[in-house]
Amino acid sequence: MDAWQGAGRTQGERTVTIFQLVKIVLDTLYAEAVDAFGKDADTQIKEQMAYLTTSYGKLTSADRKPVDYKNPATRFAYVYKYVASHGDYVAQVLYTLRLELGAPIFDQESLRVTCIGGGPGSDFIGLLKYLAENKKEQVQKLTCYLVDREKAWADTWTEIHASLGTEIQLNANFQPLDVTEPEDWKYQKKFLQADLFTMSYFVSEVMALDKGGVVTAFWQTIFGSAKSGALFLYDDNGHETFNNYFDHQWKTAGLELIVGATNELTWPGSDEQKDDLGDYLNRFGQMPKLKTQLSYRLLRKP
Ligand SMILES: C[S@@+](CC[C@H](N)C(=O)[O-])C[C@H]1O[C@@H](n2cnc3c(N)ncnc32)[C@H](O)[C@@H]1O
Repeated sequence: MDAWQGAGRTQGERTVTIFQLVKIVLDTLYAEAVDAFGKDADTQIKEQMAYLTTSYGKLTSADRKPVDYKNPATRFAYVYKYVASHGDYVAQVLYTLRLELGAPIFDQESLRVTCIGGGPGSDFIGLLKYLAENKKEQVQKLTCYLVDREKAWADTWTEIHASLGTEIQLNANFQPLDVTEPEDWKYQKKFLQADLFTMSYFVSEVMALDKGGVVTAFWQTIFGSAKSGALFLYDDNGHETFNNYFDHQWKTAGLELIVGATNELTWPGSDEQKDDLGDYLNRFGQMPKLKTQLSYRLLRKP
């Protein structure tokens, strides 16, 4: 693997896209799936794509089981289908914020980011793409906390990180944390010091698991403990149940809305080409997700 310079950065005449980074990660995950399932790897991956689709269709159901990403075939299925587009939506939402502000978003050289449910790395590579393409941002050092209940994502993240070679100094930390387990987040405090929190397709994943108000308590702890001026990026599928739930959470905590939209038809930028996934496109009978109805909110703690 030669000197990659990170999503959106140019190497000679070449621009490295999120889909190209995703291809590198898929190669590693595919090898893991073959190790686990041998010649049945493709069948397992197809089954896990179906499992994810079925699971995401039941997110509002309170008696469902949490989506399980441990299996390498499931993680391959997730990265193949969702990571590139979700990363690009994050980059686009940040760009919308920049337009709204009429100035760079970040005024510091050293930025701390917490990606809640960010294990697969989508939020983080979206942020890196935004920073790479918006040269007026002065960020030189990025400290990132990837907060996620699924420890197996830590390997996937390591692969993405190893492929970046970005000019920005990166300090990435994977933090295993289950938001439905208060013991996990009552005593871990560092990730609360972030300048930016991202919640990409995460609120929908845990909203229905709010038994006894544990997930609500998590959101109120995050919003209440974050420093003044901290930014929050929420984006998710357009389902109004999730938007309404999340709007209630941030309003209760007294956050300010800077910019937002509901059900906006969104595609990855024209620089992103799914063809970069090569032969994988012909193997599983499914294409990566591209188009979506995106809802997003960009918030600030007063
Ligand atoms: C739909 S994925 C979103 C991943 C990424 N943010 C993106 O946009 O592609 C949901 C993520 O939430 C994590 N997750 C699910 N339940 C969780 C919980 N109770 N606590 C922490 N993370 C959880 C999963 O492991 C998974 O990485």
